[in-house]
Amino acid sequence: MNRLELHGKKNASITILGIESSCDDTSAAVIRDGVILSNVIAGQKVHEEYGGVVPELASRAHQQNIIPVVDRAIVRAGISRNEISAVAFTRGPGLLGSLLVGTSFAKGFALAAGIPLIEVNHLQGHVLALFIKEKTGEYKPPEFPFLCLLVSGGNSQIILVRDYLKMEVIGQTIDDAAGEAFDKCAKVMGLPYPGGPHVDRLAKEGDPLRFTFSKPRIPGLDYSFSGLKTSFLYFLRDNLKENPEFIRENLNDLCASLQFTIIDILLNKLKKAAKQTGVSEITVAGGVSANSGLRRALQENAKRFHWHLIIPKFEYTMDNAAMIAITGYYKYLNKEFTTQDAVPFARTEL
Ligand code: KG4
Repeated sequence: MNRLELHGKKNASITILGIESSCDDTSAAVIRDGVILSNVIAGQKVHEEYGGVVPELASRAHQQNIIPVVDRAIVRAGISRNEISAVAFTRGPGLLGSLLVGTSFAKGFALAAGIPLIEVNHLQGHVLALFIKEKTGEYKPPEFPFLCLLVSGGNSQIILVRDYLKMEVIGQTIDDAAGEAFDKCAKVMGLPYPGGPHVDRLAKEGDPLRFTFSKPRIPGLDYSFSGLKTSFLYFLRDNLKENPEFIRENLNDLCASLQFTIIDILLNKLKKAAKQTGVSEITVAGGVSANSGLRRALQENAKRFHWHLIIPKFEYTMDNAAMIAITGYYKYLNKEFTTQDAVPFARTEL
């Protein structure tokens, strides 16, 4: 009996090894029957001095990290390799060279172990991170249908989630992502990469209403952040002409006002989406959902509009393989397997 047949039997555990390498984090995780056993993430400091991710350096670092990271995930999970039922990997979207490392590794692992391979869309992974169960503690996943505000370095989307594997993007950015707006504006203020967490920290001491920046007028539920970035840049350039110390003297207020504007843009469309769809089960995902101002604004709006709000654990909002493994788990239940000729994709919708 092969392992696929074995797991078809009632009561057999399903153990998924997840692999994530879409950008600059190499991650591996083990999930058994939806419960997290390990989640190992190796970040890449090499990009800091360039102020952004350098794709070639990212792929090289993934090559170095992938074997030790997977090894550690299996050891930490306390399982042996032959207990793994399937390997789930991020097929895209992301940086092609980075994705190739995880994809090739997953294919090799699955082939050698004689187990199924499962491809995962990175964005779907961010959403399904909400369903990761811990060994102990409460499990409070959202109920279907729900809206997910997915905000990361590469994406800003509003997703209508009808079921684990049934999702529809009902709004998305037509240019930059919210995380990019944080990072690019932070860079012009001289803050380190990624700038989002630095803006968040400095904003706590600043006045969010001190400066105003342009907001997009985009119809429907779509976002745009490139105009804000340009308006921020010109605002700084004009003020620096008058006072070369303008950024240093006003850094906290600049961060607070920038953050306030980004959150306002994000929340306006989310409120519109909730009204249009009649869905009041609201969730958030992606790296930017770590932002303290965004979390507070979501909570305030939840009270005001009677939303049932679910904010995921901080560690599952950033890029990680646990979200890939949990998506792999639901695809395994649905028997959605991938063949060895799957190739990564850089861009796609859900
Ligand atoms: O989902 P994620 O880890 O991966 C990518 O999409 O690459 O998101 C990373 C993004 C970066 O733009 C980072 O600046 C932003 O999430 N980020 C934050 C915060 N923490 C991470 N942005 C604002 N406030 C934060 N606290």
